[in-house]
Amino acid sequence: MNVNGKHYRTIWVKEGDEKVVQIIDQRWLPHKFILEDLRTVDEVAAAIKDMHVRGAGLIGATAGLGMYIASIEAPDNEFDSFLKNAGTKLKATRPTAVNLAWAVDRVLAEVAKGNNPAQKRKIAFEIAKKIADEDAEYCKRLGEHGAKLIAEISRKKNGAVVNILTHCNAGWLAFVDYGSAIAPIYEAFNQGIKVHVWVDETRPRNQGASLTAWELGQHGVPHTIIADNTGGHLMQHKMVDIVITGADRVTRCGDAANKIGTYLKAVAAKDNNIPFYIALPSSTFDWNVCDGVKGIPIEERGSEEVKYAQGLYKEEIVTVLLAPKKSPAKNFAFDVTPARLIAGLITERGVVKANEKDIIKLYSEHK
Ligand code: MRU
Repeated sequence: MNVNGKHYRTIWVKEGDEKVVQIIDQRWLPHKFILEDLRTVDEVAAAIKDMHVRGAGLIGATAGLGMYIASIEAPDNEFDSFLKNAGTKLKATRPTAVNLAWAVDRVLAEVAKGNNPAQKRKIAFEIAKKIADEDAEYCKRLGEHGAKLIAEISRKKNGAVVNILTHCNAGWLAFVDYGSAIAPIYEAFNQGIKVHVWVDETRPRNQGASLTAWELGQHGVPHTIIADNTGGHLMQHKMVDIVITGADRVTRCGDAANKIGTYLKAVAAKDNNIPFYIALPSSTFDWNVCDGVKGIPIEERGSEEVKYAQGLYKEEIVTVLLAPKKSPAKNFAFDVTPARLIAGLITERGVVKANEKDIIKLYSEHK
């Protein structure tokens, strides 16, 4: 995707110095565009945990490249144990997005095929790059599939603007490129379909207001930021044609964990007969879980995220207290939308109904 006209991915190996991984440090967006160098597995773990990078696909790609960094750090005489510990460290950073553990395990499994540290480092590099490239490719493809849904609504509206509501950030910043929920919107927009996006601000960390709005603006897509609780009202007044969100983990039966508040949007969409879609690359499926409410671990984050907000004041990024200092706050980062509320899953293999039979038919290797 382009930032001020220049193409970027969200993560890459530094040109001219393959021992360094570079990321866009998302903590400062939309106010400052800052790149960060990561040189150790500890720096990679901190970047995931402290949300320099965020979003399921990007967390997975970062973990993959983090394992590559670990392979460079690992001394020859204890290569395997160093790498295994690095994997455990990375997996412990954030529990909900399944892409993280998936990427770590994928690197470990491939590396185990090497005969010596030098060979294993080469394999780690190749597989980490593959994970990142695949993420971008799958998001591109799912964007093409999802755009057909938007095109269909546009046809039914005789070309009038299609209003799409989204929650959190599931654009290119949350992946390596293109995004999940926003990929169909970019594709539809690029095809000349008239679209407008309602962007939930997404408390407490405001990923919608700060990240989704920023990237839509960079691409020229018409959008409006709304307070999180506005969606139901808009739906009642026929101001939303379709809801598309991303996901951090989707079970084999179609339940979807996504940023807190997603479930309420799905309930409101159902009540108003508005199709609610989840977009995801296959790395976000958890093939071992069916019941998402019971089986998906929900990350609980620090209460300060609820009580404080970050913003720009006189050109400086500052943090301000919103609530009484002594009031307790709770911060569940995700919720689960049951499959029965989901009209379909937009994947790189096509749009599929959110139930085990149809999902497994599309991904028969996970029977
Ligand atoms: O910033 P996070 O990592 O807490 O937010 C997670 C997300 O970005 C989302 O839940 C997103 O909607 C799905 S992941 C592409």
